Amino acid sequence: MPNILFVCLGNICRSPAAEAYFRHHVQERGLDHAFCIDSAGTGGWHAGEPADARMRSAAQQRGVEISSHARQIASSDADADLIVVMDKANHKDVTDLPWVEPSRVRCLLEFHPETARTEVPDPYYDGTEAFDLVLDLVDTATCALLDYLQERELV
Ligand code: 4NP
Repeated sequence: MPNILFVCLGNICRSPAAEAYFRHHVQERGLDHAFCIDSAGTGGWHAGEPADARMRSAAQQRGVEISSHARQIASSDADADLIVVMDKANHKDVTDLPWVEPSRVRCLLEFHPETARTEVPDPYYDGTEAFDLVLDLVDTATCALLDYLQERELV
C-alpha cells in the first residue's frame, strides 16, 4: 500500500490541507483502502495542535474537513514511499535528514498541470486570500498527483 506523507514547515496550514484534499480525491475515486496518507512538519513548534483555524474554516467552506493534529517528521517516517513537500526550504530540510531517500521527495506543485509557481506559499502571516490560494493549488495538485499514481499503476 503506497504511503504518502505531505510535509510543510509547521504542519498546521499547507500540509494538513494537502493531506485532507488528497484523502478527499482518494475517497471520491473509491480508493480509500489503497493508501496510507499522513502529514508532518519539518518543525515541531505546533506539535499536538489542530490545524490553523483559518485553514480549517476555508477548507470547510469547500466541503473538505481538516482533522489532523500537527507532528514533526521523524525517522519513523522512513517507510514513506513518497514525501511531498510544499516549498524549497521544506525540500532541503527533508532531504538533509539522514534517513530520507532523496529520490522519494517531490514538490507538490511539480504535479500541478497549469501553475507557473514552484512553491505553495506559506499563508500563516497573510489574510483570507492566501488561504484560498493554498486550497486552489492544493486541490488541483493533489488531484493530479493521484492521476500520476494511477497512470503508473502504483495503486
Ligand atoms: P505551514 O505554515 O508550514 O503551512 O504549517 C506555518 C505555520 C506556522 C509557522 C510557520 C508556517 N510558524 O512560524 O509558527
